[in-house]
Parts: sequence; C-alpha cells; structure tokens
Amino acid sequence: MVKFTKKQLIITSALPYANGPIHIGHLVEYIQTDIFVRFLKLKGEDAVYCCADDTHGTAIELKAHELSITPEELITKVHKEHLRDFTRFHISFDSYYSTNSEETKALADRMFHTLKDKGFIYTKDVETFYDEEVQRFLPDRYVKGECPKCAAIDQYGDVCEKCNASLRTTDLINPYSVISGKTPVLRRSKHYFFRLSDCSEKIEHWLTSNNTLQPEIVNYVRNWITEGLQDWDISRDGPYFGFRIPGEDNKYYYVWLDAPIGYISSYANYCKNDVQKAIDGWNHARIIHFIGKDIIYFHFLFWPAMLMEAGFTLPEQLVVHGFLTVNGEKMSKSRGTFLTAAEFADKYNPECLRFYYAKMLSKKMADIDLDFNDFRGTTNNELVANVGNFCYRALSFLKKNFDGRIGSVADNRALKQAILGKARAIADAYEDCNTAAAVKDILAISQIGNRYFQEEEPWKHLSTNRKKMHDVLGLAANIAKIIAITAKPILPRFSEGLEKQLNLGSLAWDGLHFETTEHTIGEPAILIGKMEEKKKETFPLQLMVAQVVEVKEHPEADKLYVLQIDAGNEKRQLVAGLREHYAKEQLQGKKIIIVANLKPAKLRGILSEGMLLAGVSKDGQVGLLTINDAKPGTLINAGGLAPGTSQVRIEAVAEAKLTVKEGRALFKCHTLRAGNETVRVEKVEDGAEIH
Ligand code: MSP
Ligand code: ZN
Repeated sequence: MVKFTKKQLIITSALPYANGPIHIGHLVEYIQTDIFVRFLKLKGEDAVYCCADDTHGTAIELKAHELSITPEELITKVHKEHLRDFTRFHISFDSYYSTNSEETKALADRMFHTLKDKGFIYTKDVETFYDEEVQRFLPDRYVKGECPKCAAIDQYGDVCEKCNASLRTTDLINPYSVISGKTPVLRRSKHYFFRLSDCSEKIEHWLTSNNTLQPEIVNYVRNWITEGLQDWDISRDGPYFGFRIPGEDNKYYYVWLDAPIGYISSYANYCKNDVQKAIDGWNHARIIHFIGKDIIYFHFLFWPAMLMEAGFTLPEQLVVHGFLTVNGEKMSKSRGTFLTAAEFADKYNPECLRFYYAKMLSKKMADIDLDFNDFRGTTNNELVANVGNFCYRALSFLKKNFDGRIGSVADNRALKQAILGKARAIADAYEDCNTAAAVKDILAISQIGNRYFQEEEPWKHLSTNRKKMHDVLGLAANIAKIIAITAKPILPRFSEGLEKQLNLGSLAWDGLHFETTEHTIGEPAILIGKMEEKKKETFPLQLMVAQVVEVKEHPEADKLYVLQIDAGNEKRQLVAGLREHYAKEQLQGKKIIIVANLKPAKLRGILSEGMLLAGVSKDGQVGLLTINDAKPGTLINAGGLAPGTSQVRIEAVAEAKLTVKEGRALFKCHTLRAGNETVRVEKVEDGAEIH
C-alpha cells in the first residue's frame, strides 16, 4: 500500500513497442495504471504519469522496411496512433514521450559511462548467426530451424513450442534466416556485457527488504538469482535502429538497455526537457512501475541493477499484472478476438471496458479473462442497472418534484455510516491497486441507495409527507455525489457527467460527506446505455469428414462421378461433378468434407445423400476441401460455432458464403476445423468460393 508522504510520485506503465497498434491486451495495464494515478490525484497527491513509445530494435526497423518508410517515419506515425487510442480510453498521461529522443540518448550514455568506469561493463567476442544475403546479424527471433530434442520443424531458437525444451539458437538443426530464408553462418563479433552476475547480492537485498513488492514475484525472481545470473549482452551490431555506443562505428545499445531509461526521459520531458532537473527529481521521488508478467526479468533484475550501480533511485513498487485472454483463450486473429483499441472503441463504450478490467484486477500476476457475455452482463446489470440507474432515478426525481433543489438531508445515521465506511474501504482498495474490491464497494453503495429509494417510496408519499420525501431525495443526491467521487478513477467521463448534473464543479476525495444541502442541481440524463444482446451467431451447415471408398462414372452424365463414401457410422452415396477436375485414382481413399444435413436428391436418376465441398475460383479451377488427421464422421466446427443440426436446402450452402484464404476454408472470419486439424482447400487461390 502507498503510504502518503509529501514526495512526488512518478508512476509509469511499460513503454509499448512502436511497431504495432495498441490492443485490448495492452489496455489492461494502461487502464490499471491510469486508475491508480487518477486516484492519487483525487487525493491531492503530486503524482506524475509517465510513458513513451519504445521505438528501437530490429522489429521496428524491419517493419519500416516492409512499409517502405524510414524507422523515424514509422515511429512518428505510430506515436500519433498510440496517443489517439489511449485518449479514447481516457488514459491521461502527464508525459507521453519517445525513447528515440535526445534525453534518452543523453541518459543512456551517462549511465553507460558510469557503469563502464565502475567496471560493470566489459567486452567479449561472441559467435552469432549472420545472414550473408541481407548482411546483418540475426537476433534470436529471426532464426528458425528444427528442434534438436524432438525434431519439430520451424522452431525459434529460444524455446521449442512442441516440447518446451529451452534452446540456444546455435543448437537448431538446419537453421534458416526468417528474413531471407537462407542458411545463416556463424560470425564472431565484439559485444558489450553488463556484469549482472556481480549484482546478485544487492538485488537480493533490495528484493527482500522491500515489503511492497508482490511476494509471489519476489520468490520467482529469487529463484533466478539462486540459479545464478548470467551477464547481460547490451550491444547489437548494425544495421540496427537505436543509439550508437560511444566510441563505436557500428555497434548500438540493445533496445532493452535504453527502453527503461525512457521512463526517466519521459519524466525529463515532463520537466520541460531539463535532464539534470529530471535526474534530481527522479532521485527525490518515489517510483512505481506497472508492468506485465512477461517483462519481469527486465524490471526486477536488469533495471534495478543498472539504477543502483549508476546511482539512481530504485522503484519502490512494481505492480505486475497477468495477461489478457478473451473468452477463455489467447487472443487470436482467426477467432476474431484480437481486437485493437480502436476497433473496440468503435464498437463499445470504452468506459465499460475500464469498469470491466477494474472489476477483474488486483495486485496479482494471474491472467484475466475478457468474456464477452460476462462483459455484457457486467455492463448491463451492474454499471447501468445498478450504478447508473440509481443516480438517474434519484436526480430526475429531485428535478421533477422539487425543481432540482436539495434542501436538507434525511437523518439516517446507520445508512450514512455504512456508506462512508464503504468509501474508506474504496480508498484503501485503490491504494492497494485492488480495483476489484473498489468496484465491489461502489456497487454496494449504489445498492444501498437503490434499496433506500425502494423502501422510502417517495413516489407514494410525495403528497402526504412532502418534507420528509424532500429530505430522502437530499440524502439520495448525496449518495449519487459519493458515487461520482468514488467511481471517478475508473469512470472519469461518467463522473464528469454526474458532476455536471449535480452542478457541483469538479469533485475531489474531500467531497465524501453528506453535507451537500441547500443547492440546486442541473439537468439529469442517462449517462451510460445498455449493450445490445448479441444475436447468437450460428453455423447452419453440418459438415463432416468422409473418406472416398469407391469412384465410378455416372452412367447418364459425362461430368459426374458416383462416389461411395465412409462417413463414420454410415456409408453414403454421393454424386459429384468432378470428372473434369479429378481422376478416379486421385479421389480413391481421399478424405473430403461433405454437407451431411442436406436433403437427399436424385441427380440424373441417381441418389445423392449430401454433397461434397470444393473451392471454385473465378477461372473455373476446382479444388476439393480435404483434411489429413481426422476420422471419417468427425464434425467440422467454425471458430467454435456449433454446427447446424436441422436439415437444410441446397441454397443454404451458397448462403453460408464459405471462402478460401491461404489454403484454408473460412466461414466469415472463422477457420473450418475438425478438432485442432485445419480443413485445407486444394488448388484454388484466395477469394475462391466454396460450394
Ligand atoms: N517495449 C516493451 C516494454 C518496455 S518497458 C521499458 C514491451 N512492449 S509491449 O508493447 O510488448 O507491451 C507493453 C506492455 O503491455 C507490457 O507490460 C506487456 O506485459 C503488456 N501487454 C502486452 N500484451 C498483453 C496482453 N495480451 N495482456 C496483458 N498485458 C499485455 O513489452
Ligand atoms: Zn522440441
């Protein structure tokens, strides 16, 4: 928990890479941090929220190359996009800078020299892969090959995805460059190293003496230390987009060296670009970093080691969150669950995501899930029906019946104490980054309000007991005010709207009382609307794997075959127009995909029980849908959508608008699969229709 002192607080989120858009996974962190900072500011703390784009490294350079622009052009463009996206989610930085800045360079050089002078940096020759075709050294993620342990192909040089063996890039069998496809060669080059191994004791001391760190993570990091820390390679050979190492022609700081320095340079940007002032400010401030669990190593080992040996103040807290999954699975483009921030904001109210993430988050490393049904339920039943509805009900009733004038406040001590107790608990929860608990208590407050309203029934007693009912509404309006304040870190726009309706100006934490009396409110309005029920998406066709057992020519039609097929539990007969496209031998034994819930029909006098599916390109090329490792009778699913069960007419096949992309068969954006096995389409190109 943050103890409040007079000191300035510098709060950061990890610096997003400038090679792609902000997505809903990133937003977990920026929303979490923003809520924390907004709370501190509401409490009157001197908190500064600093962030920046992380602009260096091979990925950014190659991305720029791919787009035929310079890295500088790329990072300028992405910087604008990132800021635009963050703004839509009401993430309010005090400084959003770039690591490709003079201040970062000055600070990096300064740290580098200090560390070098103290003997913490040395050079050593290392052998790494070099791509002669494109004339560059290849970082880990740019070499693939076969796993030496399990022979899985196309594995990266750090860890095998099939057997989980941890690898060195040079262990790979038949390595190839991801850039050119050519076999790389080993080449020697001088690298700069940071003596991380010499910092073990000091880091361990920092870890164990700091009881604000999450214990689960401290244990994790201490294990790494016990296993022994390796020195850290902090240089890369050119071409590289980054800062050149002083005294070198073609060697650059590794991106992870200057990335965290970007925290300080972003703060320098806040200090009107005065680097010395920023260093002094940093060293007198309290630093809190928010990060995801994938970058613990950098933030609990490298960064503190650099800071301590270069004489800078260390972070007082590192808040580590887990990863976002969507509907219980890793975000995935093919399932349509990889949403950029912009895409999300186009479809939904960003504050609903802030509320949902807040409800899910606490100071824990556990992953969090965005389940869209749960998201809709939370928005509609909690945010709208409970919180929003109470405020609107109370204020509109006051407006309508008492001209919006709050007179005095009903004397209900038990209720007031219960609510103020919740408000105090909310403050503690925010301080501890336990937004899940904060949300619970905000909901509890509006529930108390709703119940109070329901019990007092002002609509009934208005004529008989007008004065009492006026006091009841005075109390209710004060509850709405307390909701506006306590929810403000999570729902800044909603609270701003309420403040306007309450006509109370900008509220801060000291407004948490029931003393707002003799005051006239503004115009009440509904602030957040319900999310529409999603029409349940279905996949009408029942597709099934079948194997061709026998092929004969149709006696009456020279374009048709008559196939006997094995469909798992049953044998079926199918008539198919394939004679111009497939020879009999090519079909024999082949696994095909059939529409199993089609009404049987006679084709030129012969019964066809279902139809097989094929892609047909514009030029008339025909390629069958086929699958390798699936048993006849297996049902095909499309992105988890359940297959249809009722019988369909032949038109349903065309209406499903199945298409071909990169050799796969798609229903809308969903790839057709049997279990994990993907349905392939032979011979035809992207965009071909399937029927
Ligand atoms: N550039 C580095 C950080 C440098 S900090 C000196 C980086 N960038 S990132 O764009 O990949 O990620 C930025 C932050 O977003 C990280 O803290 C990361 O953990 C977080 N997330 C990225 N994808 C995420 C999810 N799917 N879910 C939750 N957080 C995620 O790492
Ligand atoms: Zn393996």
